[in-house]
Amino acid sequence: MTKLVLGIESSCDETAAAVVDEDQNVLSSVVATQVEAHAEFGGVVPDLAARMHTEAIGGVVTKALKDAELELKDISTIAVTQMPGLIGSLLVGVSFAEGLSLSTGLPLYGIDHIEGHIWSGFMQDPSLTWPLMALVVSGGHTALYRYDGLGQITMISRTVDDAAGEAFDKVAALLKLSYPGGPSVQKAAETGNPKAFKFPRGQVKKKPLHFSFSGLKTSVLYTLKGQDGLRSDINLENYSVPDVAASFQEAVVDALISKTFKALEAEKLKTLIVCGGVAANSRLRERLQERGEKRRIKVVVPPLKLCTDNAMMIAGLGAAYLKEGRAPDSIGLDAKARSSLSR
Ligand code: KG4
Ligand code: ZN
Repeated sequence: MTKLVLGIESSCDETAAAVVDEDQNVLSSVVATQVEAHAEFGGVVPDLAARMHTEAIGGVVTKALKDAELELKDISTIAVTQMPGLIGSLLVGVSFAEGLSLSTGLPLYGIDHIEGHIWSGFMQDPSLTWPLMALVVSGGHTALYRYDGLGQITMISRTVDDAAGEAFDKVAALLKLSYPGGPSVQKAAETGNPKAFKFPRGQVKKKPLHFSFSGLKTSVLYTLKGQDGLRSDINLENYSVPDVAASFQEAVVDALISKTFKALEAEKLKTLIVCGGVAANSRLRERLQERGEKRRIKVVVPPLKLCTDNAMMIAGLGAAYLKEGRAPDSIGLDAKARSSLSR
């Protein structure tokens, strides 16, 4: 009988559960998002996130089983996000998964959220083979990885300051656009001129493949406040918000594209997975396809529901590990805010 994996994800502000079989078929996927609760604070509030995970997790896991018309006894293995993320949030998922494992005797895998994001590329395109490059670009992470096999991941470069999604969120706040910033900046940019302002492309001294987005954010701030940065209030009537949004978005996309393709060349790789929330950005997708075709690089960008935080990628990666014969982890998983893939 086909083995089934129950995946549980709670690393940030989505409580998610999914069932995926060993051939990577998704039987169910449930995501309870907290985005509205955090919107009034303009960012994720860790204590609130943990409390909301606690309230949601039982219902989310139950629904994932029910949607797949399964019971716990039908499951072979539980896979849970162990790291990296908000520690209070992670602990809710890990404790719940360990409770389930203890009460049912089911084996358990602790999964790295970043490898989960990268795995979403394999779920989107089962014909993918190692080695390949992955760009993980979200609200918490922006990094390039070389992926040589399950668990065999080498970080090539990362942001030295803000993540790209964080930059979208901060610039959206400056432009008084709604949270989360990515979608609202993208929308505003649709009618703007990407060449209206010349914003920096985030070069990092002596590290040509690393990313930096804090200078870009400051540059947008100074553009809006005047060069001395002293004007205390930003009067957006003096600026075209679509032009600022489009120019900012273009700067982020330029930086992501140029470093990613440089890294592909340096590592002599021909396949690229782009994942994480910012991979939803339509301008980034457009430019990736364009550059990929030009350079004969296969570019895989999973659809939105696989790009943003979800449990399909956790269950799917768990199923791949199960098929490979990885030994289960012991109870007492150490939830960690950081991992070797997030530093
Ligand atoms: O992967 P994700 O759902 O959560 C983590 O950070 O792990 O990513 C959320 C981030 C937010 O910063 C959000 O502003 C950004 O992804 N985002 C976008 C778009 N949609 C979401 N950024 C740019 N363009 C978008 N369309
Ligand atoms: Zn994520």
